Amino acid sequence: MPDPFTLRTGDPRSPPLKMLLIRPAIANDAALLLAMIRELAKFERAPDMVTNTEEELARDGFGDNPKFRALIAEWNGQPAGYAIFFDYYSTWAGPGLYLEDVFVRETFRGRGIGSALMAEVARIAVEERRYGIHWSVLDWNERAIELYKALGAEFRDWWRPVLLSGEALQRLAEKAK
Ligand code: ACO
Repeated sequence: MPDPFTLRTGDPRSPPLKMLLIRPAIANDAALLLAMIRELAKFERAPDMVTNTEEELARDGFGDNPKFRALIAEWNGQPAGYAIFFDYYSTWAGPGLYLEDVFVRETFRGRGIGSALMAEVARIAVEERRYGIHWSVLDWNERAIELYKALGAEFRDWWRPVLLSGEALQRLAEKAK
């Protein structure tokens, strides 16, 4: 387990280093992560969509075969936000990252924490020679969209997100020979 590290972006607008700590999450953070995942789902107007449990998160993030990596942002020792990301692979460009969630608790917003979480994921992507980071954002989430535009992200509206799940997934699976 690497030591927790403080973020140093070199940006003069960055929060004071003593206040903000961004560290990799550990198994003991599963309950905290789940609480913040629920807060994000509520913000995204889908509070009942979280079916994941603390045990499943602990297994999937911190077990033998981790499915995701997570960062926790602490402000003066208080849990203030998180980011969750995992491997992406493009047949065109090779290994990338997929950012599933970035979230800052309401009372901590506007202090540079979200930007710092994004910067840390970008630092990891560059260090690991990933070609880029993919993510999705709801079309009404203007504050997040403004942040992503300011970062120089490209909005790929000509690609439509697709999900197959539930009964439709079962039906198709049963057609497999
Ligand atoms: N009003 C409007 N815009 C603001 C405000 C505010 N009060 N505060 C910050 N911003 C915008 C500005 O563009 C700002 O850039 P600037 O400082 O150069 O002006 C930019 O956000 C970044 O500011 P931060 O302080 O770094 O952002 P914050 O810590 O508030 O985190 C985030 C941004 C993550 C979007 C946060 O507002 C949040 O968690 N929102 C609710 C959940 C959410 O939308 N998550 C992203 C969903 S998409 C996904 O998960 C992949």
